Amino acid sequence: MIEINGDRLLADLRALSRIGARDGGGISRTAFSAEDILARRWYRDRCQEAGLKLTFDGLGNMTAHHPDDEGRTPAVWSGSHIDTVPNGGPLDGAYGTLAALECLRRITEEGLPLARPVRALVFTDEEGNYGHLFGSYGLVNGYRAEDLAGMVGRDGDRLIDTWQDFPFRSEQPITPLDPATVAGFIELHIEQGPKLELAGLDIGVVSSIVGLGGGRMEFRGRADHAGTTPMPLRADALQAAADFLTTLPQLAAKVSDAAVATCGILRLSPDAANVVPERAVCTLDLREPSRAGIVALHAAVETTAREVAERHGVDVVWEPDQIIDPTPMDAGKQQAIRDACDAHGFSRQDMPSGAGHDSQNLATITPTGMIFVPSHEGRSHCPVEYTDPEQLVRGANVLLTTLLSLAS
Ligand code: GLV
Ligand code: MN
Ligand code: MN
Repeated sequence: MIEINGDRLLADLRALSRIGARDGGGISRTAFSAEDILARRWYRDRCQEAGLKLTFDGLGNMTAHHPDDEGRTPAVWSGSHIDTVPNGGPLDGAYGTLAALECLRRITEEGLPLARPVRALVFTDEEGNYGHLFGSYGLVNGYRAEDLAGMVGRDGDRLIDTWQDFPFRSEQPITPLDPATVAGFIELHIEQGPKLELAGLDIGVVSSIVGLGGGRMEFRGRADHAGTTPMPLRADALQAAADFLTTLPQLAAKVSDAAVATCGILRLSPDAANVVPERAVCTLDLREPSRAGIVALHAAVETTAREVAERHGVDVVWEPDQIIDPTPMDAGKQQAIRDACDAHGFSRQDMPSGAGHDSQNLATITPTGMIFVPSHEGRSHCPVEYTDPEQLVRGANVLLTTLLSLAS
């Protein structure tokens, strides 16, 4: 059985983790940032070194392939993302991206005659500065120019300004990918939760991925002098937002035990200590394993926000995001991953994913599977993200064996 070069994969992970590294151990490599560009250059150099060709589309999604496989379809795809959340960790996305590259390198080095070529992918903005799973969503569904023109990131920048000089984006129209060109997609990722470590298992075979929703809830009150305006005469947008936010745990619990609701960004304006806040914008992230649950959660936050706003004498505007449906993984791909684990003698369990992944979009056009490795103490989206190096190598070997079985 051919195996990946574990030392090379781990060295690549260390090298990429230095790009965007912050004091305190975190990594900030958000999509389209200067650090994202540096990381892409670094990835392109690795491809060049390995004799692979790198292409990119109108959103900056990148594909590495062997030059002899130019235009050969359908291809087996694998990959993930190299953007991070602000002050994130070294493994979320980077691991699956670099493992896919390592698999392609090993396949190339061995000169294996495969019935289907293998391609390594890097998706743009998985962390959703411009929308949940932005790059893979556009790859699969396309975007109209007017949709893109209106997009403003979580950082407040307009997309069309941000990517003005972005060197890893082509001028191609952003039309939906032809599903006939893909023979399946496999994504390797850290679990980002505690289950595998607690169970003492090597590998998770993902059965389904949680549904994603959310949006911006904007409370609009009135700016007034903080010293002279009596409390009963105020229309304080933040007081309303604060009241609303304290209801999120109950709203989630009413939908199901698995439902989660988070406000991770709160923006005030005018954002001055001596002015009653005129606007408070809460960016919400809502998740639940069923489509009905996500829809119910959307409805519940909207109804509650309107009630709270009325009580506080302010207005509220709800701007929901596109719902990304909960996504079952393909049964055949799950079995291929189980077989690969068994061939290596690695312990495993089937499990759902509570994090969102590009696989959710790919699964709408091609049979898709995901492989998880344990996350130490389940920590992720923070600097302490860690997986034992041996487990990282195991996961990448499961990926390689799975890809070879799909490509043969
Ligand atoms: C991606 O990391 C997500 O689950 O938001
Ligand atoms: Mn990820
Ligand atoms: Mn993430």
